[in-house]
Amino acid sequence: MDIKAQLQALKDQAETNAGGTASANHLATVKIARNIEDMMQVFAVRAAVFLSEQHCPYAEEFDGNDFTSTHILGLVGEEPAGASRIRYFGEFAKLERVAVRKEFRSSGIAAAMINKVIEICRQKGYRKIYGHAQARLVPFWESFGFMAMGTPGFVFSDHEYEEVLCELEPHPNPVAIGDEPMLIIRPEGEWDRPGPLEHSAVRPASNPHADGPPDPQRVKRRRASRK
Ligand SMILES: CC(C)(COP(=O)(O)OP(=O)(O)OC[C@H]1O[C@@H](n2cnc3c(N)ncnc32)[C@H](O)[C@@H]1OP(=O)(O)O)[C@@H](O)C(=O)NCCC(=O)NCCS
Repeated sequence: MDIKAQLQALKDQAETNAGGTASANHLATVKIARNIEDMMQVFAVRAAVFLSEQHCPYAEEFDGNDFTSTHILGLVGEEPAGASRIRYFGEFAKLERVAVRKEFRSSGIAAAMINKVIEICRQKGYRKIYGHAQARLVPFWESFGFMAMGTPGFVFSDHEYEEVLCELEPHPNPVAIGDEPMLIIRPEGEWDRPGPLEHSAVRPASNPHADGPPDPQRVKRRRASRK
């Protein structure tokens, strides 16, 4: 297909999705961002929605918390359509930056992303997801099981917000200490299938340290110099 035809196909796809037809929904997929390419797509969605559409200043949107988060990327076909992120605290996870590009609204990607967030948090053993909902969007959050906490509203980045909380059904088999150690090191969110480190375990432990075993004389000298 030439580039013109590809662009037309994407446009048709977006239009079909904007209509929210059931047949278009199967084109919507979500994944955890795992590499720079995925992250560029996440940031592109957020720049379009929050910087451009909602006039959020750059430093408020990109607030220094992106490297401590799990990012969810929503795709319609191959086009980045939605994004959201999860941050983790001891007692709860926090859902943030839920965004769907205007041209992909009502495509089902918002629900697919939030359901993925809920699934990841349950698998990690969380029982609560906390959020700051734009006041006008509390009904949107409620459609995913969040409830307004009834606490006073507050304002940041030029919007009114409400605290919302989703109490989660416990996962039947959350990742926990006591699980197989190799399960815990699988790629985030893919705890139900073997990961690259399990494949690595077919190799024997050759301990290929560049330095080789420690030189006893050197260890002795280092200990002496510390006294
Ligand atoms: C909020 C946002 C992510 C929703 O995406 P969307 O594609 O428009 O959502 P959908 O149309 O798939 O709606 C999902 C559900 O929420 C409901 N919903 C969506 N927008 C709503 C609104 N403004 N008020 C009430 N309910 C709403 C829908 O009815 C639907 O419920 P249903 O499945 O029971 O019918 C999108 O509008 C967006 O990116 N907005 C700008 C960014 C933003 O404000 N983010 C939120 C920060 S708190």
